[in-house]
Amino acid sequence: MTEPIVLGIETSCDETGVGIVRGRELLADALASSVEEHARFGGVVPEVASRAHLEAMVPTVHRALDQAQLRISDIDAIAVTAGPGLAGALLVGVAAAKAYALALGKPLYGVNHLAAHVAVDRLAHGDLPEPCVAMLVSGGHSSLLLVPDVTGAVHPLGQTIDDAAGEAFDKVARVLGLPFPGGPHIDRVSADGDATSIDFPRGVVRDAPYSFTFSGLKTAVARWVEARQRNGETVPLADVAASFQEAVVDVLTRRAVLACRDHGVDHLVIGGGVAANSRLRAVATERCEAASIALRMPPPRLCTDNGAMVAALGVLLVERGVDPSPLDLPADPALSLT
Ligand code: KG4
Ligand code: ZN
Repeated sequence: MTEPIVLGIETSCDETGVGIVRGRELLADALASSVEEHARFGGVVPEVASRAHLEAMVPTVHRALDQAQLRISDIDAIAVTAGPGLAGALLVGVAAAKAYALALGKPLYGVNHLAAHVAVDRLAHGDLPEPCVAMLVSGGHSSLLLVPDVTGAVHPLGQTIDDAAGEAFDKVARVLGLPFPGGPHIDRVSADGDATSIDFPRGVVRDAPYSFTFSGLKTAVARWVEARQRNGETVPLADVAASFQEAVVDVLTRRAVLACRDHGVDHLVIGGGVAANSRLRAVATERCEAASIALRMPPPRLCTDNGAMVAALGVLLVERGVDPSPLDLPADPALSLT
């Protein structure tokens, strides 16, 4: 059989992503983002995101086909994020995917957003070693997963019990007067700061060694800044940003390495928007090397939400002969991995 060509649709949050993948080759990665429409609210507004997906859906599919220099009839299967994510946003992608599948007479594959974040690395670094441990850190999720088979069972080892890692970056950025989404700004500003200057707390979740808590850290940063402002002192922006970033990165990388060790796994995949963080990439590289763990991180462009990751997982499902989804596939905002 020739390598399957899969069109992947992602609309779980604020990015309308359409990717086309043939085998392990990325043919197209078209993206429309409504992030600017949410900026003045300091976070994603679900109804605004849904409407933006609706407007962007068909043009983004056309752009992807143009990029790949394919016609829609060349596509062998349609894959779509079925969840988890924002209900109204997911619905747009799922409805579009069903329409294309039905009209073309091609199979439909509903996929889990988190599994897609893991699978995308095969486009950058080849087939995924299984089992592996995956750490997914974004604005909407922060989890450590044990992945024996990315097309099948994925076991959650731990997750955040409050804010997601990206959410913490975004909220702290707001405290520091930086624009939304704050992660990239904190990353940039931190380059001129001293990460050891302020000892922010590293939150621990009782009886859950692979879980995260960031709300205490976020509050600690806000209190620290407020105290300086009350006294009329200038806030050392770069030092605060760098110290905060260091606390997040320290916790994430420690837990990830621990999860690998405890489960006898020697491959770690890191994905999600926060995986674009330069300090996270540096510390993860260091700590994995010290622990003899092979680290795989997709390039930043593939770490954030996109359609290519959905197509990449779709290809694996086709190649492994997994049954397609029924046409009444629901959009499931709380879709679980198991
Ligand atoms: O995966 P993503 O594009 O969307 C979801 O939330 O699912 O992740 C977006 C998140 C935002 O919170 C953003 O601030 C964060 O990823 N982010 C970063 C960086 N780039 C994006 N956080 C830290 N450092 C970065 N360089
Ligand atoms: Zn995501």
